Amino acid sequence: MYRLVFTQVLSRLDAEAVHHLTIRLLRLLGMFPPLVRLLHRLLAPRAESLRVQAFGVHFASPFGLAAGFDKDAGCAEPLSALGFGYVEVGTITAHAQPGNPRPRLFRLPESRAIINRMGFNNAGAAAAAKRLRRVRHIPAVVGVNIGKTKVVPESEAVRDYVDSARRLAPLADYLVVNVSSPNTPGLRDLQAVDRLRPLLSAVKEAAGRTPLLVKIAPDLADEDVDAVAELAAELGLAGVIATNTTISREGVASTEAGGLSGRPLKARSLEVLRRLRQKAGDRLTLVSVGGVEDVDDVWERLLAGATLVQGYTGLIYEGPLWPSRINRQLARRLRRHGYGSVREIVGRTA
Ligand SMILES: Cc1cc2nc3c(=O)[nH]c(=O)nc-3n(C[C@H](O)[C@H](O)[C@H](O)COP(=O)(O)O)c2cc1C
Repeated sequence: MYRLVFTQVLSRLDAEAVHHLTIRLLRLLGMFPPLVRLLHRLLAPRAESLRVQAFGVHFASPFGLAAGFDKDAGCAEPLSALGFGYVEVGTITAHAQPGNPRPRLFRLPESRAIINRMGFNNAGAAAAAKRLRRVRHIPAVVGVNIGKTKVVPESEAVRDYVDSARRLAPLADYLVVNVSSPNTPGLRDLQAVDRLRPLLSAVKEAAGRTPLLVKIAPDLADEDVDAVAELAAELGLAGVIATNTTISREGVASTEAGGLSGRPLKARSLEVLRRLRQKAGDRLTLVSVGGVEDVDDVWERLLAGATLVQGYTGLIYEGPLWPSRINRQLARRLRRHGYGSVREIVGRTA
């Protein structure tokens, strides 16, 4: 059904216009708590076997929504009601900013991919904080992903991240330092260990007891993946999220500038996960994202050592029932293989 709507209607409309309409509908839905509760009752993960605990947080399912969909933290609750085990909001920057000029979001349906160069369009940390403080009507785990304000010079990047961390960490179940988006000039250079160390140390202090993770790019060289893993473990971070979008255009016809997500990212994302597992073992919680389309992909990531898995592009191509379908199939598969819990398969092939 969704596929038909997608090919016949949505794919003919401007991608960003569809996104904003979706966000509006979700926010509207969020204004009717009984409806949110009903949806949650129908779609949220219920199987005992799907429950996981990571860095002190309980998740109803290991499968969550990746950052970038709910940039302003306006609809984490209705999104959770669809069945996501957690929703990562953001990227949020200390100061509000408009992002890059449009068009900046492109679908590549034949490759099951997306290219975006949104550039952290968001209303800023203060506005997000206000929304995150709202009363919740269903249980929802909300991670907050923070990035650097574009106009802030790189020499002041640490202070900018710390500003956001101070405001948002107390309202987040976990906090993510995003140093891997390709659409903010110079951002990914912060992944170099000598720049990352002071940044992560300062944000960790500002985050207090909120678990801190760092999100990395798939375009890092293998040695740099190792170095970040080592640093994250050494600093006592909760985990690493791998990966963000890629600047590679391998396997796609488009040459639009921006970050590529979806199916073409799958192999590299899995490779980075395996590398992290090898390097960090179980010292870090690994969150795998990039090209996850179905339960097979989720299963593969769990086996390779991810405790949590995320997706974004899959939601665009599969529609709103995607998370609940994955949860149902994952629970069924666990049962079929005789596992009582998702925890039992994490890292089995690592
Ligand atoms: C339109 C779009 C916007 C995104 N914005 C962000 C963002 O603001 N911050 C971030 O950390 N990742 C962002 N991402 C990256 C996703 O969180 C994810 O890491 C990436 O898309 C790979 O997962 P996927 O293949 O399941 O989409 C964005 C992705 C897309 C498609």
